[in-house]
Amino acid sequence: MNNEQKLRQLDEMNAKALAGGGDKAVQRHKASGKMTARERVEYLLDPGTFRELDRFRVHDCTDFGMEKKRFLTDAVITGYGRIDGRLVYLFAHDFTIIGGSLSKVQAQKICKIMDMAAKNGAPIIGLNDSGGARIQEGVASLGGYADIFLRNVSMSGVVPQLSMILGPCAGGAVYSPILTDFLIMVQKQSYMFITGPDVVKTVTGEDVTKEELGGADTHSSKSGVAHFAAPSEEAALSLLRELLSYVPQNNMEETPRQNTDDSSTRLCSTLNDVVPPTAEQPYDIKDVIEAVADDRTFFEIQPDYAQNIVIGFCRLNGKSIGVVANQPAHLAGALDINCSLKAARFVRFCDAFNIPLWVIEDVPGFLPGVDQELGGIIKHGAKLLYAFAEATVPKVTLITRKAYGGAYCVMNSKHIRADLNFAWPTAEIAVMGGQGAVNIIHRRALAGIESEEEREAERARLFEEYSDTFCTPFRAAELGYIDEIISPDQTRIVLIDAFESLENKRDQNPPKKHGNMPL
Ligand code: HXC
Repeated sequence: MNNEQKLRQLDEMNAKALAGGGDKAVQRHKASGKMTARERVEYLLDPGTFRELDRFRVHDCTDFGMEKKRFLTDAVITGYGRIDGRLVYLFAHDFTIIGGSLSKVQAQKICKIMDMAAKNGAPIIGLNDSGGARIQEGVASLGGYADIFLRNVSMSGVVPQLSMILGPCAGGAVYSPILTDFLIMVQKQSYMFITGPDVVKTVTGEDVTKEELGGADTHSSKSGVAHFAAPSEEAALSLLRELLSYVPQNNMEETPRQNTDDSSTRLCSTLNDVVPPTAEQPYDIKDVIEAVADDRTFFEIQPDYAQNIVIGFCRLNGKSIGVVANQPAHLAGALDINCSLKAARFVRFCDAFNIPLWVIEDVPGFLPGVDQELGGIIKHGAKLLYAFAEATVPKVTLITRKAYGGAYCVMNSKHIRADLNFAWPTAEIAVMGGQGAVNIIHRRALAGIESEEEREAERARLFEEYSDTFCTPFRAAELGYIDEIISPDQTRIVLIDAFESLENKRDQNPPKKHGNMPL
């Protein structure tokens, strides 16, 4: 072959690889409304930045006539490129080739790209659309999955790992994504289950649709498996780009800074009236976050799950900040099992990747109830406590209203190493609310008053006395548990100052192999 022929051979090989599983399979795939793996990669990355590796790999299985089903890429596209100019590694299953199923060779390709991401300190992105372990390859495929899982675990906390679920993913194809940091699904298009509806019907007799069992809405609002449910693939891919803008490339880097025109001395005058006059009235904590954040922008994570706690990213004077906030507008902001798990995982992500934490507290306590106790609120709530106590990133707390009981300790209190703790004058920092406290500590005295009218008048007096003494931020400030009581309209100015003062914070945990959080 002369050089020209060799070049033509390369062109032919490339064309063959770009054809995926062939015209028919591609047409069927697109008819179902899905983008091809290559279209997804192009859409996600900065134009013209994708470099594909291992394009010509094929599987080596000869069982079940598989030697006749060999396609270049072996059902996964791997390589690297840029998002907003920053390096990322990625793999994208090609469902048009043997359902994107994972062969030994496909696993080797994915492991190679994961190793490169870890070595070069850049995020790894998985665009998952796969029927799971390639059945014809048996244990070789299972071993391939385990090789990937091992990397998911060893890379956890080293580089950000992001997963998108873009089709029906089963078996091993869901276990790798769940080990990663963030998981994005597409409504009415992506599904995740260990076993699908048919197997469920056979084993348990339950009738369930795939949407109910493993659709995007199920996992983003009920199981808490997914962080986002996007209305389309394009929306999901754009969301991933936005998410990445808040996180550093790896655990040795600082958070990215973005220029902003929003003044660091801007007053937030709406905040002076945001807390309602009576303690029982709800308000939306997102109004507080948005009023303070640069350009009033808050990137919420898991918005539809465990809404009694709000998590997400914002920027303060250009710097990325992780926000954890009780939500008085949902279950009065009480801490329960689901919200503790949601927030604990997010706190650990931020701590692993040097993202400072801003905690906003308005919490009446842990949610009482038989379901909660039998479900293990003791151990699950403790995970949130553990996560805050363990975190060494800059940690700033703002108490807007209630900080009662154990929840006061858990929500990034001074005692568990928060750096700066602020309160608004409306803060109520106490063991419990006034009504409950009066009923317990004055029960006998109140029971001794015969006239109901006099008893209720005394109860009201005692309530007021307790509230004035304890349901304020001043007792906590006297003790040094609150560093400063601030006027709400000053919040943005104070927080920006706080985080800038903590930029060179150095703190660490004692040397150990790892702790033993109450899993
Ligand atoms: C080999 C597979 C495959 C697989 C799909 N295909 N999944 N081939 N191994 N796991 C092939 C199909 O045979 C078909 O080939 C093509 O991919 C497209 O699949 P369809 O079934 O036509 O597509 P669709 O109707 O959209 O259904 C998609 C699906 C279904 C829901 C994913 O294919 C399915 O249920 N697959 C099996 C899922 C599964 O049980 N996987 C094993 C999980 S166990 P042709 O030639 O007809 O086009 C596992 C172990 C690891 O992963 C566990 C670690 C913890």
